[in-house]
This record gives sequence, structure tokens and C-alpha cells, in this order.
Amino acid sequence: MKKILVLYYSQTGNTEKMANAVAEGAQNIGNVEVEQSFHVDPEDLASYDAIIVGTPTYHHDMPLDFKKLFEQASVKGVNLKGKAAATFGSYGWSGEAPKLVLEIMKYKFEMQASEPPLLANYSPNPKVLDDCRALGNRVAETLMSKA
Ligand SMILES: Cc1cc2nc3c(=O)[nH]c(=O)nc-3n(C[C@H](O)[C@H](O)[C@H](O)COP(=O)(O)O)c2cc1C
Repeated sequence: MKKILVLYYSQTGNTEKMANAVAEGAQNIGNVEVEQSFHVDPEDLASYDAIIVGTPTYHHDMPLDFKKLFEQASVKGVNLKGKAAATFGSYGWSGEAPKLVLEIMKYKFEMQASEPPLLANYSPNPKVLDDCRALGNRVAETLMSKA
């Protein structure tokens, strides 16, 4: 059984709508377990085969929780090399956070990044939600093809 984590932060619910759609898309693939959460302990990151992070952009940055998570994972030497990584998130006008998070996952943790990140301007429209489902689906399919 392959495991996917959909980790997200959302203050006003926009990124959460995306996270729900990403998880829904991933769940449609057999033999894949999908966990959706707004918190994970750094050590536990290594127990997933794919990590998809949903992050809105506030003050041109990612939430402090994610900075702390990746810093602690680095300090503790958590090994995520070769695992699948993707990011998405809602934004208002600049939308840097999903790219910043994906860069850390790609360059610091040597994960296999799916690029570019998926963005929604404020509340995701139906087309973006379809893209979110497709993202979850693609990540799950990729894991299954490696099984
Ligand atoms: C105080 C504040 C700061 C923000 N800073 C940015 C920013 O720097 N760049 C940007 O693209 N959007 C910015 N936004 C807009 C949010 O990213 C946007 O409202 C997004 O939909 C929030 O997602 P969430 O509902 O998942 O929390 C900001 C919003 C607030 C309230």
C-alpha cells in the first residue's frame, strides 16, 4: 500500500477547497492510502511515498508552520530523497509560497518534484478544482506505476 500525504494550511478556506479536491483525485486510485492533514511531525514525513503541500501566500511567504516543519526535518536528518513532491495553493496577487515550498522539497530534500505548482486566484473555480483532482490522480498513478 502506497501512502500519500496531502498537507495543507488555510486561513479562509481557499487552499482547503483545493486540498479536498487533490485528496479526492488521489483516492480514486486503488491501493493508495491518502491522508489529509494540517499537521505532521517532521519524523513522520518519511513514512509517506508522496507529499503534496497546499500553501496559501501571506506576506509573500509560506506559513511559519511549514518553515518550522522543514527546518526540523532538516535538523533531524529526515530522508525524503526520491519521494514524489507537489505543491498547490491559493493566492491574491503574487503567489510565491507554493514555488518556495517546492524548491525546498526539490533542492534540500532531493524529492522528485512535479512542476509547476498549481495555483488558484482566491477561491478555486471549477476548472482549478478539476486540475487539483487531476494532480492528486497523477501523483497516485505515478506511485502505482512504481509499485
Ligand atoms: C494579511 C494578508 C496578506 C496577504 N499577502 C499576500 C501576498 O503577499 N501575496 C499574495 O499573492 N496574496 C496574499 N494574500 C492573499 C491570500 O493569499 C488569499 O486571500 C488566499 O486566498 C488565502 O488562502 P486561504 O483561504 O487558503 O488562507 C494576503 C492576504 C492577507 C489577508
